Amino acid sequence: MAEFTNISACVFDAYGTLFDIHAPTARIAEELGGVAQPLSDLWRLKQLQYTWLRSLMGTHADFWRVTGDGLDYALEVHGIDNPGIRARLMELYEKLDAYPDAAATLERLKSEGHETAILSNGAPKMLGAAVRNSGLEPLIGHTISIEDAGIYKPSPKVYQLVVDTLGVKSENICFVSANAWDAAGAASFGFQVAHLNRFSQPRERLPGKPKAVIASLSELPALIG
Ligand code: LAC
Repeated sequence: MAEFTNISACVFDAYGTLFDIHAPTARIAEELGGVAQPLSDLWRLKQLQYTWLRSLMGTHADFWRVTGDGLDYALEVHGIDNPGIRARLMELYEKLDAYPDAAATLERLKSEGHETAILSNGAPKMLGAAVRNSGLEPLIGHTISIEDAGIYKPSPKVYQLVVDTLGVKSENICFVSANAWDAAGAASFGFQVAHLNRFSQPRERLPGKPKAVIASLSELPALIG
């Protein structure tokens, strides 16, 4: 596996990478009567599709809105017409847990002198809530939202926000995402990328090749050196 070279900052995707996006449906799995995982998968798929489609249509709405729209679509597919369940899932999405490998990795990177940041589709308010609630706040230097670019990942305008905010050249940035398409977009932009393959996804047939594929965030510090 290729080693990362001259890294000054490590930048993380948020949803699915640091924060457990499947926790909300798992939390109320009993109420969902056996469809927690398929509902969560479809919710995520529609949420992401709406980011790409709205970017192409030039009709931006923030990630809280598209998250709600994606949930409404997924609930309808599964025949769940229950405002209480919808409200509970959105409430849980605002306060996602961090994955168990997140805090220790961020701590180690920080102690080794690397700057840490988040670059996410998330709207600033929902990102702030997730960072605070998960306990990761002291370990994250900058939380950068695509709202400052007004378009979603994988637009190069979004990855440019990191360069502008941190004042670090793209080639000195390590970007980590559990979304293979986000990893491809970031590599195509010019970051050194680790694809965290939490969900055992095949390689995307897109431009932009990650330098490394890892199974857990805990593998990252050794690669960066
Ligand atoms: C994010 C989504 C892509 O946090 O997971 O940007």
